[in-house]
Amino acid sequence: MPDTSSLPDLDRRRILLGVTGSIAAYKAAVLVRLLTKSGAEVQVLMTEGASRFISPLTLGTLSEREVLTDIFPDGPATDEGSWTKHVDLGLWADLLVVAPATAQTLAKLTHGFCDSMLTATALSARCPLMVCPAMDRDMYTHPSTQRNLETLRADGHIVMPAAHGELASGLVGQGRMPEPDAIVERVATELADRPYAADRDDHNTPPDETPSSRKPNDSMAGREVLVTAGPTQEPLDPVRMLTNPSTGTMGFEVAREAARRGASVTLVAGPTSLDTPPGVNRVDVRTTEEMHAAVQQRRTDVDLVVMAAAVADYTPVDPSDSKRKKDEEELVLHLRRTPDILETLGKHKRAGQTLVGFALETDDGPENARRKIDRKSLDWIVLNNPSESGAGFGTTTNRVTLFHRDGYSEALPLQSKRAVARALLDRVTRPVPTTQDAS
Ligand code: CTP
Repeated sequence: MPDTSSLPDLDRRRILLGVTGSIAAYKAAVLVRLLTKSGAEVQVLMTEGASRFISPLTLGTLSEREVLTDIFPDGPATDEGSWTKHVDLGLWADLLVVAPATAQTLAKLTHGFCDSMLTATALSARCPLMVCPAMDRDMYTHPSTQRNLETLRADGHIVMPAAHGELASGLVGQGRMPEPDAIVERVATELADRPYAADRDDHNTPPDETPSSRKPNDSMAGREVLVTAGPTQEPLDPVRMLTNPSTGTMGFEVAREAARRGASVTLVAGPTSLDTPPGVNRVDVRTTEEMHAAVQQRRTDVDLVVMAAAVADYTPVDPSDSKRKKDEEELVLHLRRTPDILETLGKHKRAGQTLVGFALETDDGPENARRKIDRKSLDWIVLNNPSESGAGFGTTTNRVTLFHRDGYSEALPLQSKRAVARALLDRVTRPVPTTQDAS
């Protein structure tokens, strides 16, 4: 079983997993486990061929749902196993993943065959389809398989290329199913900016699900939220700058989650390559001065500010308009302090406004974090340590401790930045617990 400590967050996601008749079908057990550990609900659809390689009982037990194979149910058409189930499932899911996908099933999917629960569901599904081919090298490289994969891609489906390595036939080459953890990562990436099937109002409820369990979370409806994210860049000359390695992921996840909960969200973003989360109003800035201006312009209207940006504390006094030449053996740069955006917000804080800062500390974290709460008049500060593995800049995960101005603190486990964003918003939008954390 691969490492599960850094799994992406697939909470509330609904995955249809199609398993077809390849030797790699045994890996479907690990795949189901990783998907469910990530928080997803999984419904397995198996072909007859797949059940020769792995038992439906195994996958049914791991997914806690009956595995479906046959499109024609045994009972009367009005039963729960009615012949329209493939349509219900296609509406229910966020993603249909076929892993492993044999050459036979790829051919059927390409040409619209629907002779099993899996292929019929694929044909009626509104969610994206992702295939993970697994077969012998020569079958994989065969022009008809490659043509089918090309057609699937051209039709807008997601094709995860087969991996290179030792194959069951004894040959070495491309044809191995990608490893289950790589498939789960890809699932998370493909779903990152997509709305949740569970939040849709259309006919998407399988017979065993109650309508209340798919109610959208609108706990932040009516709130104005301002989030900052990413680095700032302070130019030295037209081609050089002072900056830091922040990617903006943490702040973007906070903005995404607040918007998902119904808040009206403005995201002031330093330079990053991230896509704007759905429903978020984004303002792009470069320098600390620009971020300061963008934030101050909006500060009076907002109920919650989350300053996740890694702001440059100093900027060159005299940036050059033309590229500096390397004339000197030693170069002394004159820097001046940038405005402290959060401190300014703290000074003008209005009643009912919540200010959340981030503190990146390599030494004396808790003491420094608490000092920053006081200096900047914050309600909460989120402490993280960039030298800890799995935390800080450029990672998809984070381990943080939350400190409240009244003394309460809470250490959160290492988890995806999306899960940290959820826990953070849960905490800062609810009354502060009275019991003190042991940390
Ligand atoms: N911050 C800010 N404006 C700045 C510097 C930081 O608003 N000019 C914000 C950050 O976005 C973060 C919080 O203040 O939410 C703490 O940032 P950090 O860099 O940890 O602290 P500094 O105030 O810069 O103090 P020091 O560098 O001395 O640790």
